[in-house]
Amino acid sequence: MRLDKFLSDLNFGSRKRVKKLIKAGHVKVNDEVITDSSFDFDENNEVVKYDDEVLEYSPFVYLALNKPKDYISSTIDELYPSIVNLVDPMYAKRVRIVGRLDADTTGIILLTDDGRLNNRLTHPNRSISKIYRVTLNHDIPEKLIEEFAKGVDIGKGEITRPAELKIVAPNVADVTLKEGKYHEIKRMFNRFDLDVIELDRLLFGPISYEGLEVGESRKLTHEEVEKLMKLTGLDKERL
Ligand code: URA
Repeated sequence: MRLDKFLSDLNFGSRKRVKKLIKAGHVKVNDEVITDSSFDFDENNEVVKYDDEVLEYSPFVYLALNKPKDYISSTIDELYPSIVNLVDPMYAKRVRIVGRLDADTTGIILLTDDGRLNNRLTHPNRSISKIYRVTLNHDIPEKLIEEFAKGVDIGKGEITRPAELKIVAPNVADVTLKEGKYHEIKRMFNRFDLDVIELDRLLFGPISYEGLEVGESRKLTHEEVEKLMKLTGLDKERL
């Protein structure tokens, strides 16, 4: 494989950026600095380092999307189009959506064809934090901070895990969840006679939509993928 393709598959940036990084002497193959982007090597048997960090080759694609309203996060054709229609057509057929957001929820959502990472990120035992900015129809009583911290009975025999509630304006709060039950936030507030007017996911683990317009997507950076691997324990399990 060519060295520039290797780095660009690992989300180091555009081919142009990757060429610059190689030329600047950041990359070693078998401990020898290589400055020629077209350098050809065997990615399965040779060791590539970036500033002395060993790079594992990944054939997978990892995308972050700033989801708009009125798109669904499944591929089944319902009333609304799927968010998959919003990503680069080059990846749309390959990727699966990581978890779910309601059609009227906006914000960060990930897509990938790395099934192992997807399973880990959505597995209830993994407790990946997600932060939502919630706008309610009325002011939020202070006592909800404690109620959310205890876990909320949301009906149908379901009790949420402890959640963090930060009131950022009289009727606006940031809620941190470590799970993803059906309509979880809406049901938590409904339990206290409040209705959710706007729901926007700000963070999925360490990943935000900062810099993305609504409806826009981008590839995760190498550093972001590494953070997700660490969070899910997959960094220690690479073959
Ligand atoms: N909670 C909800 O109620 N809806 C979402 O989309 C996500 C969390």
